[in-house]
Amino acid sequence: MRQTKRWSFCEFPLHLYKIVNMDKKSHWESVYASKQSHEVSWYEPDPYMSLELIRSVAPLPVRVVDIGAGQSHLVDRLMEEGHTVAVLDISSAAIHETKNRMGSEAARVQWIEGDITTLADIGSFDVWHDRAVFHFLTTPQDREKYVALLKKTVPVKGFAIMGTFGKGGPEKCSGLDICQYDAASLRSAMGPSFCLIRETEYTHTTPWGKPQKFFFAILQRIE
Ligand SMILES: C[S@@+](CC[C@H](N)C(=O)[O-])C[C@H]1O[C@@H](n2cnc3c(N)ncnc32)[C@H](O)[C@@H]1O
Repeated sequence: MRQTKRWSFCEFPLHLYKIVNMDKKSHWESVYASKQSHEVSWYEPDPYMSLELIRSVAPLPVRVVDIGAGQSHLVDRLMEEGHTVAVLDISSAAIHETKNRMGSEAARVQWIEGDITTLADIGSFDVWHDRAVFHFLTTPQDREKYVALLKKTVPVKGFAIMGTFGKGGPEKCSGLDICQYDAASLRSAMGPSFCLIRETEYTHTTPWGKPQKFFFAILQRIE
């Protein structure tokens, strides 16, 4: 009988690891090349939950980075509120489209194209916002790299606002596996440097009317 080799992470060949990462990028590029912004399941014309949570920790203008922002309208709203904003995404197509939408305002935004699990340094921000990106990291290694970059980016007393699929929510998104979170599992994934200070469940409705259970949390860096 033919045996399929199971690679442990440590022995996973570097050239194959690069191919996996390249596939991740190709996946998102093809999503944004083939769909309009309002045709994806995560589309939300008014990112009110993200805004409410950001306002609660940053009533005055601060530096905010939106991780895996896609074509979200959050950047427009944060700019209106006076924040200094960076938009990060693995997809150049998503960034290109958002820049086009924003017109001359786009020049005031910092644009970072890259994979959150391989970027070494993105600068310093008071608030890190992630809606529906962390849950795609299904290996402990990728989650550790994510948390390492988060700690490099957000100083002690700064905040991470995380929105993921909640327990009992969707099991896949965009055809990809995801991990669902609640307070205990998110706290454990973020590690001891972060304290969960607020949590809330939230139901997102897709453009075709399907409810999706989300879990949002505010974490503060404490060490
Ligand atoms: C489900 S969409 C959410 C988009 C946006 N946050 C929103 O709420 O509308 C996930 C986004 O994360 C981006 N993404 C996925 N994996 C990523 C990674 N490893 N690094 C950076 N961005 C990533 C995708 O290109 C996509 O725009």
